[in-house]
Amino acid sequence: MAGTLALSTLLVLPLVSAQAVGIPDAHPQLVTYKCKANGGCQAQDTSVVIDFTFHSVHEKNSSTSCYNGSVDTSLCPDTEMCTQNCVVDGAANYTEFGVTVAGSSLTMHQYMTVKGETEVTSSRLYLLDNASQNYAKLQLLNQEFAFDVDVSTLVCGMNGALYLSEMDLTGGRSTSSPAGAAYGAGYCDAQCPKQAWFNGAVNTQDLGACCNEMDIWEANALSTQLTPHPCTKPGIYGCSSDDCGSNGVCEESGCGFNPYGLGLHNYYGYGGRIDTSKPFTVVTQFLTNDNTTTGTLSEIRRLYVQNGTVIQNAVATVAPFVGTDSITDKYCANADSGFASRGGLKTSGEALDRGMTLVFSIWNDNSQFMNWLDSGNAGPCNSTEGNPSIIEQTAPYTSVTFSNIKWGDIGSTYKSTRRAW
Ligand SMILES: *[C@@H]1O[C@H](CO)[C@@H](O)[C@H](O)[C@H]1NC(C)=O
Ligand SMILES: *[C@@H]1O[C@H](CO)[C@@H](O)[C@H](O)[C@H]1NC(C)=O
Ligand SMILES: *[C@@H]1O[C@H](CO)[C@@H](O)[C@H](O)[C@H]1NC(C)=O
Ligand SMILES: *[C@@H]1O[C@H](CO)[C@@H](O)[C@H](O)[C@H]1NC(C)=O
Ligand SMILES: *[C@@H]1O[C@H](CO)[C@@H](O)[C@H](O)[C@H]1NC(C)=O
Ligand SMILES: *[C@@H]1O[C@H](CO)[C@@H](O)[C@H](O)[C@H]1NC(C)=O
Ligand SMILES: *[C@@H]1O[C@H](CO)[C@@H](O)[C@H](O)[C@H]1NC(C)=O
Repeated sequence: MAGTLALSTLLVLPLVSAQAVGIPDAHPQLVTYKCKANGGCQAQDTSVVIDFTFHSVHEKNSSTSCYNGSVDTSLCPDTEMCTQNCVVDGAANYTEFGVTVAGSSLTMHQYMTVKGETEVTSSRLYLLDNASQNYAKLQLLNQEFAFDVDVSTLVCGMNGALYLSEMDLTGGRSTSSPAGAAYGAGYCDAQCPKQAWFNGAVNTQDLGACCNEMDIWEANALSTQLTPHPCTKPGIYGCSSDDCGSNGVCEESGCGFNPYGLGLHNYYGYGGRIDTSKPFTVVTQFLTNDNTTTGTLSEIRRLYVQNGTVIQNAVATVAPFVGTDSITDKYCANADSGFASRGGLKTSGEALDRGMTLVFSIWNDNSQFMNWLDSGNAGPCNSTEGNPSIIEQTAPYTSVTFSNIKWGDIGSTYKSTRRAW
């Protein structure tokens, strides 16, 4: 599962422009780090950009909206006309979307209070490379990825997610659709979402936007899951009908690793071995069969660091997974029936090798209350408390903070300052 698209309530800016690209986007700077085995970590000039659908797209000479949940088909019958008639404005003030960025730290809120009223913000952001104005290219085969996270206010039913999608790094930028990555265009994931725009252009053919997805982190304070979702097509692929859905090019369900689901009920949670009432570091390693970047992805390993102590991943106690503490094709053969038919970890590894985009999202789920993540076999929440209307009433402050995002050689992104116990 990946973040579903949330519609934002947008102010139409009274700005007029003669171009299909209007005022620039604020792109709050989020410092990230690239690490080397013997060279330490270096700061990178990166920023975040909010998804295209959160931007104002309006007529060039007026504030009439060209997109408001769906595309206005008279102004935008096709991409060329849309570019002629309409302009997309950058997001000027990310606070309006419940997003605050400072240094290497990013906080996303699900709700905001505006004039005494609660508004749903539920944002989705992408990591942008400042120099190129394209999405930062993460190539993580035989590499590891680390970040600190504070999930302490993510109650049952919430999902603060950090993941990779194999998006077009330019966001589909072209002369006929010039906005591209700088305006958050081109989203895709392994659920093949059908969106108003496909890779930056008006989605006149109602294509699903499919691409390889690596869910490094989908979690709240009660439960967490790590899930590769391979797709057999490289890059962004528009599925039409036969090749969408559960028999399509992407593995929708994915091969998830959730400690609670694997029998460890006190491993992750408030007061758990990973104590989610406090921040901690999450490290994910993408190992290859020959320990080189040209090898085949053979194992995805997870470890945590909290208060200076390295904590090894949970070791499954339920059949048929007893003793397993990482994701391998053997694990996935039992965890996800469709995984092998999409080529298994090898396929996911090829996407990691080609390069993927880092995505951040915060969301909750009106239809299933996020039960797949934290209820029943998956976690301690009951089946109804994840209802968004309950969350809005009882925990309107709910948010997630990601910080100190680093990637690089295996073992280069974290250290312990204390002996494990
Ligand atoms: C905007 O431009 C279009 C096309 O040139 C024109 O038909 C329309 O009347 C204009 N609207 C305003 C408010 O000027
Ligand atoms: C968007 O659509 C909603 C519901 O149809 C409407 O209330 C709102 O005024 C529209 N906003 C804009 C900017 O057109
Ligand atoms: C940004 O938006 C927030 C929340 O609506 C508001 O409080 C703040 O004044 C805005 N900042 C600017 C510079 O407009
Ligand atoms: C981003 O890049 C532009 C142009 O390359 C540069 O002028 C600007 O200072 C950079 N921003 C940051 C925050 O480094
Ligand atoms: C890869 O590295 C691991 C951990 O250092 C080691 O156990 C394994 O033998 C290595 N595999 C190969 C094929 O070199
Ligand atoms: C970290 O560990 C030390 C030593 O065990 C302890 O005194 C301290 O309270 C811990 N801090 C946190 C935030 O858990
Ligand atoms: C689910 O949990 C909530 C919050 O603890 C509680 O109020 C509610 O009664 C529970 N519902 C069921 C069906 O157990």
